[in-house]
Amino acid sequence: MNACKRVLVFGATGLIGRHIVRQILTRKDDFDRIAIFTSPDTVRSKAEEIKQLKNEGVEVLVGSLTDEADVRKAYQDIDTVVSAVGRNMIVHQIELIRLADETPNVHRFFPSEYGTDIEHNRDSSGEKPHQNKLKVRSFIRSCRNLDHTFLVTGPYADGDPGLYLSPNYGAVRTGSFDVRTKTAVLLESGDLNIAFTTMCDVGKLLLAALTHPEASRNKALRVKSFTTTDGKILEEFEKQTGGEKWQVSYTSIEELRKLEKKAWATGDHQATLITLRRIWATGGTLYHEWDNKLIGEPAVQTLAEAVATAIDVQLHGEQEMKRKLV
Ligand SMILES: NC(=O)c1ccc[n+]([C@@H]2O[C@H](COP(=O)([O-])OP(=O)(O)OC[C@H]3O[C@@H](n4cnc5c(N)ncnc54)[C@H](OP(=O)(O)O)[C@@H]3O)[C@@H](O)[C@H]2O)c1
Repeated sequence: MNACKRVLVFGATGLIGRHIVRQILTRKDDFDRIAIFTSPDTVRSKAEEIKQLKNEGVEVLVGSLTDEADVRKAYQDIDTVVSAVGRNMIVHQIELIRLADETPNVHRFFPSEYGTDIEHNRDSSGEKPHQNKLKVRSFIRSCRNLDHTFLVTGPYADGDPGLYLSPNYGAVRTGSFDVRTKTAVLLESGDLNIAFTTMCDVGKLLLAALTHPEASRNKALRVKSFTTTDGKILEEFEKQTGGEKWQVSYTSIEELRKLEKKAWATGDHQATLITLRRIWATGGTLYHEWDNKLIGEPAVQTLAEAVATAIDVQLHGEQEMKRKLV
């Protein structure tokens, strides 16, 4: 059995990459190497974060993701690549995977997924936001030497800009929880079930996939923190913000579909997120069973914990969306 002990992370200081590295570091002693590959730009612009990672024993390899020689060099003495690159770099992973497949010591690649199940049902293959990730899955399945793991987590239950427990400025009608104004927009009647994973748990579940290499080998692992509804999320926000009722309005699925159509037609950069919200609200995160138990059932967060973090992030965190949506 091939262990995942010498790990290289792409996208390590991005929205989700940061949580992944943080969780891997909690089990530092179980790994022979923990390395990140990042750009000279990031080394400059996030100097403090890079310094902190180095202090914690992370090897920082610097180069360009689009330079074959840099990537080949970074793959030396690595057995597992974890990619957490943003949506703008999804297709480029095909090149990163091709190079990994040609490198005998690399045996496992985790492409950047960490979200919606792009093969959930018959309609999934036609969804616009899924197209690039589908190409990556198809390519990696054709590799000769490389195993893969797709970590499928559903939406993040977090309050950072644009995430499900945020005010969702710019697309408020497609769902919103705004702590400052105590207002919310719920989908349909607020009673649709959605399975969520907090970003902290994405990191924990990725770590569990690394430490259970056989169980996670060549699988789409469908994991979650909890299943809940907009109504229950709202109740929890109300409870944790003084008990007062929030002002609530509703957007039907029919209206959401209209907003989605208009966003794609007008080239609105939020179109991807609106489509994903429609998929999540219409059963696209639900299964009879999840795979947490296959990878040792790590302890995951509750709705109450997720809402507490979201309140803190909404009140004290970054208010501007930095990640790339396309
Ligand atoms: N389930 C959900 O609700 C949800 C929400 C958001 C994202 N996601 C998924 O999570 C994955 C990661 O997305 P993210 O939002 O975390 O990504 P992100 O923060 O936009 O970017 C992640 C990292 O990608 C690297 N990167 C971006 N552009 C690059 C370039 N031109 N050259 C080199 N490196 C570049 C950077 O790495 P460095 O750190 O090394 O600079 C960056 O920090 C995606 O697959 C996305 O679909 C899911």
